[in-house]
Amino acid sequence: AGVGSRRDVRQLVKQGRVAVNGTVERDPGCRVRAGLDTVTVDGQRLETGPAGPLILMLNKPRGVITATRDATARTVLDLLPPALARRVFPAGRLDKDTEGLLILTDDGQLCHRLISPRHGVEKEYWVEVDGALPGELVASFAKGIRLDDGYVTRPARLAIEQASAPGQARVVLTEGRYHQVKRMFAACGLKVTALRRLRIGGLQLDPDLPPGKYRPL
Ligand code: URA
Repeated sequence: AGVGSRRDVRQLVKQGRVAVNGTVERDPGCRVRAGLDTVTVDGQRLETGPAGPLILMLNKPRGVITATRDATARTVLDLLPPALARRVFPAGRLDKDTEGLLILTDDGQLCHRLISPRHGVEKEYWVEVDGALPGELVASFAKGIRLDDGYVTRPARLAIEQASAPGQARVVLTEGRYHQVKRMFAACGLKVTALRRLRIGGLQLDPDLPPGKYRPL
């Protein structure tokens, strides 16, 4: 709720400055139900937020890394207000130069369901490469592509855009190995020059959400 770090809050609780439903609570391990219990600090009521998990959609811009902290680089959490940044973590990863849909949540189980290849949640990307895309690539992607480390990817759907947009395509994957899209095209002799994630499962990137902006789901 933006009051302080875990350590700060532990001190406040121990000093008897925190009350839950009108009673001073001195146990820092006490559990409260967000949106249901009334929590005050020095008599001031806190906004504990809605009940249930916090899930945010972020349109990740290029140049920002998908990490919770970094000594020098700007992270996706730097794009959120501190009270939210303290709660959520990214569900999956986009490369520094990749943009588009990133989900941030405080729900570990949801995160696991979204990124574990066992659940096979689709991730759709728009991609631009540095050359023409031969039609045969569609069948190669459907069979699975052997990457530089010998791993053969799961079948992927490739839709090559019209002749008006040479070198552009959409790719749908159900797994997310390190630099996977770039390595799949590299294995076919093509360099990815732009990459944007458009969809995770049934969730499309909101076209009205500018890069760098987020909204709760
Ligand atoms: N594949 C990549 O190569 N990079 C990403 O950021 C996401 C998928």
